[in-house]
Amino acid sequence: MKLIHSLYAFGLLWAGYPRAAARPSTSAGLISWHGARFPSLNTREFQNAPIPLTNFGNNFYTTNIGVLGKEIPVAITTAHSDMWLFSSEVVNSNTTAIHAELDYGNSLVSGTIAFVNITVGPFVNVTSGMIFRGLCMLKVADLVEAFVRVDDAINMTELFDNGVYGVLGLGFENASVIQEILDENKYDATLRPHSFASSLFGSGPGISPFASLIFGRDSGSGSIQANGTFTFGTYVDTYASSLAQAVHLPVFSDTSDEDSSNGTSFPTWALTLDGLTVNGTQYTLNSSVPQVPSGKSLVILDSGYYSTIVSPDIVDFIYSNISGAAYFKEVDAWIIPCNMPANLSLTFGGQEYLMDPLDLTAIQYFRLTNGTEVTFCSNTFQSSSFRRGSGLPAADMILGLPFLRNVYTLLSYGNTVYNATTSEGPYVQFVSVTNATSASDFSSIRHRILANSPMELTPSEFIKTIRAESTNASSSSDNDRT
Ligand SMILES: *[C@@H]1O[C@H](CO)[C@@H](O)[C@H](O)[C@H]1NC(C)=O
Ligand SMILES: *[C@@H]1O[C@H](CO)[C@@H](O)[C@H](O)[C@H]1NC(C)=O
Ligand SMILES: *[C@@H]1O[C@H](CO)[C@@H](O)[C@H](O)[C@H]1NC(C)=O
Ligand SMILES: *[C@@H]1O[C@H](CO)[C@@H](O)[C@H](O)[C@H]1NC(C)=O
Ligand SMILES: *[C@@H]1O[C@H](CO)[C@@H](O)[C@H](O)[C@H]1NC(C)=O
Ligand SMILES: *[C@@H]1O[C@H](CO)[C@@H](O)[C@H](O)[C@H]1NC(C)=O
Ligand SMILES: *[C@@H]1O[C@H](CO)[C@@H](O)[C@H](O)[C@H]1NC(C)=O
Ligand SMILES: *[C@@H]1O[C@H](CO)[C@@H](O)[C@H](O)[C@H]1NC(C)=O
Ligand SMILES: *[C@@H]1O[C@H](CO)[C@@H](O)[C@H](O)[C@H]1NC(C)=O
Ligand SMILES: *[C@@H]1O[C@H](CO)[C@@H](O)[C@H](O)[C@H]1NC(C)=O
Ligand SMILES: *[C@@H]1O[C@H](CO)[C@@H](O)[C@H](O)[C@H]1NC(C)=O
Ligand SMILES: *[C@@H]1O[C@H](CO)[C@@H](O)[C@H](O)[C@H]1NC(C)=O
Repeated sequence: MKLIHSLYAFGLLWAGYPRAAARPSTSAGLISWHGARFPSLNTREFQNAPIPLTNFGNNFYTTNIGVLGKEIPVAITTAHSDMWLFSSEVVNSNTTAIHAELDYGNSLVSGTIAFVNITVGPFVNVTSGMIFRGLCMLKVADLVEAFVRVDDAINMTELFDNGVYGVLGLGFENASVIQEILDENKYDATLRPHSFASSLFGSGPGISPFASLIFGRDSGSGSIQANGTFTFGTYVDTYASSLAQAVHLPVFSDTSDEDSSNGTSFPTWALTLDGLTVNGTQYTLNSSVPQVPSGKSLVILDSGYYSTIVSPDIVDFIYSNISGAAYFKEVDAWIIPCNMPANLSLTFGGQEYLMDPLDLTAIQYFRLTNGTEVTFCSNTFQSSSFRRGSGLPAADMILGLPFLRNVYTLLSYGNTVYNATTSEGPYVQFVSVTNATSASDFSSIRHRILANSPMELTPSEFIKTIRAESTNASSSSDNDRT
């Protein structure tokens, strides 16, 4: 069984949500520093331009921030509100004596809370301490960020192996674990920076309080933009006109359920989902969150998650009708023929958003014990034991990158930033970037990838082979012990 588990330790990363954790720090995951250095930032002309995102194998996306005169990549996540940086990135930061841990469920970082001036994107002037964005100019001193200066990390190797030593959270200030810990330590609120988004938008006039994101898809073909872009207070030109017509989806807020044993309702980028359709058949949605209207579900947008978490019923609804697909019970996963598509669309605010079938199955490679490498495809909509009751916010689904690659997303912070100039609550807008025509490229793209991949076993062959290997492995290790 061990073999199967390591097989499914593919991808990233963290699943779940950070919370102030009472668990003791451990040195088990202490990583050694071998970080890539980045060239120091050149002075560039002011440009009202999007900030590039770098796509790491569709698993996470990074943007560069300027810290203490260096430009370093950090993974961005919409589901969390805190920033952390590995200590070697921030040797001279202004560090408090306050210990903090960010527990993401499957991974954890710990260190001390520190403050640092940061800039975002390449269109900044680190030397002069200025950040330029749109028509405004901010003193970097106003963009001081509290972060966890991490000395110890567990299960973050996927980031570290790629030279990424930090995470930047785009969540709401009220969900910040750092702020919570500073509160507990009675740290003077007037000496304390705000969370990133709140700080960026609240520090002065000029930047409209919204971010927008587009995540490129690495489909192995090169014909599709693989990276992505990211803006603050400005739009990506291509989508600006469609955005004007896109419905405002209010962020779900649920104060009545706060701190219930079923999960903590901290403010997060959560939306009510109106519909889920596979090949024209509508799934009947429901919700475990009492405040969600019947026939709908509550979903959290998580740009830091490579997968999408839904109920087991929905996983089966999506994959069980795909011809040739087989359920691999031991690892709770579907194995799907890599060239078989399904049409999944999600409906928000009465508008249907089609997903590219490339985002429904992930190509994986696995080396059999006889040395042969094989290709297989598995489900990207997964069920998970990361449910309510383990410090998670109340929600029915976590919509990660597989969905987010299909939309241009605008996150409007509204009145949640400090010093807000609007009374409007936060909302999300989506502009679809996938249509039936672009989705129909699936076959040719997959065909091209498979032509350059090791042989693909049929799902049932694959499962049979792994089961046989696993049985042999456990019986041979039993033999070893006796
Ligand atoms: C560190 O932070 C404290 C409190 O915010 C401040 O008084 C001090 O000037 C800061 N030091 C540096 C080097 O930024
Ligand atoms: C690290 O990941 C493994 C496999 O996903 C998991 O079993 C383990 O509990 C994780 N460790 C921590 C501290 O979360
Ligand atoms: C960047 O800062 C340096 C040093 O203060 C200054 O000489 C330069 O003009 C600045 N560049 C821009 C584009 O503002
Ligand atoms: C941020 O920059 C300002 C101006 O350069 C400086 O006074 C301040 O101490 C810096 N704060 C931190 C936390 O480094
Ligand atoms: C609040 O916003 C006003 C202008 O909108 C700005 O002048 C002020 O500096 C801001 N307050 C803080 C603490 O940044
Ligand atoms: C994506 O970004 C990386 C690093 O920023 C760059 O090397 C690569 O060429 C980019 N890929 C595409 C397809 O633009
Ligand atoms: C929490 O869960 C329990 C048992 O699952 C349920 O009886 C209760 O109604 C739930 N409370 C809320 C506020 O959802
Ligand atoms: C939602 O529907 C599924 C499938 O009908 C069912 O198994 C589940 O218990 C329902 N959940 C709630 C909270 O009603
Ligand atoms: C959806 O339709 C496609 C053809 O359009 C078919 O190949 C596929 O098997 C269907 N999937 C499901 C889940 O019904
Ligand atoms: C290894 O096993 C697979 C699955 O049984 C088989 O298809 C492949 O031919 C084998 N390779 C070798 C080198 O025996
Ligand atoms: C954030 O929390 C404070 C204090 O609990 C509360 O007064 C405020 O309304 C909250 N803001 C939002 C946007 O939830
Ligand atoms: C479909 O999407 C592609 C790629 O995004 C775009 O070039 C094309 O114009 C779209 N077609 C329609 C009918 O919207």
